[in-house]
Amino acid sequence: MTYETILTETRGKVGLITLNRPKALNALNSRVLAELVAAVTDFGSNADIGAMVVTGSEKAFAAGADIKEMQALSYADAYTQDFFVGWEDFTRTRKPIIAAVAGYALGGGCELAMMCDFIIAADNAKFGQPEITLGVMPGMGGSQRLTRFVGKSKAMDMCLTGRMMDAQEAERSGLVSRVVPASDLVEEAVKAAAKIAEFSLPSVMMTKEAVNRAYETTLGEGLRFERRLFHSLFAFEDQKEGMAAFAEKRKPNFTNR
Ligand code: HXC
Repeated sequence: MTYETILTETRGKVGLITLNRPKALNALNSRVLAELVAAVTDFGSNADIGAMVVTGSEKAFAAGADIKEMQALSYADAYTQDFFVGWEDFTRTRKPIIAAVAGYALGGGCELAMMCDFIIAADNAKFGQPEITLGVMPGMGGSQRLTRFVGKSKAMDMCLTGRMMDAQEAERSGLVSRVVPASDLVEEAVKAAAKIAEFSLPSVMMTKEAVNRAYETTLGEGLRFERRLFHSLFAFEDQKEGMAAFAEKRKPNFTNR
């Protein structure tokens, strides 16, 4: 697929995806969705890639779903196409994806960041769910994921008033894992992804699966699920290698086997 709305590159074992619709502040239209899904699927199946970063520009990670594309949609169109269902494909990749957010992450932009495994924010980042101001509501997971990240009170506040949260408030509330200077954002996110990509891929993928399971199940079931995954890692040579390397005071050489 020839990409028109995103840029992709590899930096070592990291796949970097940059949203690239500057004139529309990276608004997410169906082309962007198709290209993002293609890019994460491609990096997901590339054995040389261990983790990914999705970023935008310094002004906007993404200012939302494309309002101009949605404007004329009828209920029949939205329902029969199951509008936005394609975003579920974005979340299917088993390798970690870090969202590196600078500037606006609004509506679908905030929701896209939350679909990633964690968010690193630039100090100029602004998060919001302003759909209410357009006469609609979050439609790509905002009412569910934001509530799990920041709790009911702040999620209601954000979704009902449409106000924006700055990077510091987002970090205080648990929406983002860390805040870095805007000028260092991509470098810091790639560094974090590169760190992850050094580890044994099976343990990385199982860790992602286990943490995500915490959102889907009870504590008891989640603990059992975690324990089974943990047991299964002893079937990999990487467990022997990782523990031997510790005992021998050397760097492990993981082979993903
Ligand atoms: C389409 C968008 C867009 C969007 C910005 N643009 N956001 N186009 N969809 N979501 C376009 C503008 O129309 C404009 O195009 C250009 O990008 C620059 O935007 P400006 O508004 O001129 O920039 P600025 O004054 O700096 O304001 C930035 C902004 C503002 C505060 C981010 O653009 C804004 O409020 N955008 C909309 C944010 C929003 O409501 N997002 C939620 C969308 S709904 P032109 O051609 O005029 O230069 C959603 C989920 C839907 O995401 C789920 C439920 C159905």
